[in-house]
Amino acid sequence: MKRTLLALSLGLLAVAGARADAPAPSVERGRYLIAVAGCNDCHTPRFAQLGAAIPESERFTGMAVGFSGPWGVSYPGNLRLRAAAVGEDEWLARVRAGGRPPMPWNALQAMTEADQRSVFRYLRALGPAGAPTPAALPPGAPIPTPHFVFVPQAPTAVGLAPGRP
Ligand code: HEC
Repeated sequence: MKRTLLALSLGLLAVAGARADAPAPSVERGRYLIAVAGCNDCHTPRFAQLGAAIPESERFTGMAVGFSGPWGVSYPGNLRLRAAAVGEDEWLARVRAGGRPPMPWNALQAMTEADQRSVFRYLRALGPAGAPTPAALPPGAPIPTPHFVFVPQAPTAVGLAPGRP
């Protein structure tokens, strides 16, 4: 029992310590977090093909290519327009509310509040650009845009690699 209590208090101390050391919200921290969390991959057009060659000034304008699955169709939103349109507290509420796949909502929600604020401040600093992305669609609705289909496929036959005996 004593040991458990000791372990528990040490654990709590560690958590408190980590909080105290957490970096204060900043644009620079947001730039770093967004890079390591892979947010460009879906929210920056052609990032998957061109990567860092896309100038920062052209990033995060969202994609009008949808992700279709059992949830309907979701579109990676224009984060620059969103960050320009809402205040920081509204942004935090949006992050907490979550939404459809394949947006990694859990990753964003797992960040400390200071880090979520940093992500917002970075996107706000980029300034508004681009056009709004289409609204999400419910399952079964006609899909008027290009889209990826997220449906598991049956395995295909596995043959021997060409040239192997
Ligand atoms: C695998 C693709 C993908 C990645 C990677 C991704 N997103 Fe998203 N994101 C989406 C999709 C799709 C939506 C729309 C979700 C919905 O309809 O609920 C979205 C929505 C959002 C929204 C809500 C936008 C709005 O206007 O309501 C925010 C904020 C957001 N993403 C931030 C991020 C951040 C920050 C990262 C990096 C940690 C990230 N996303 C990484 C696909 C992605």
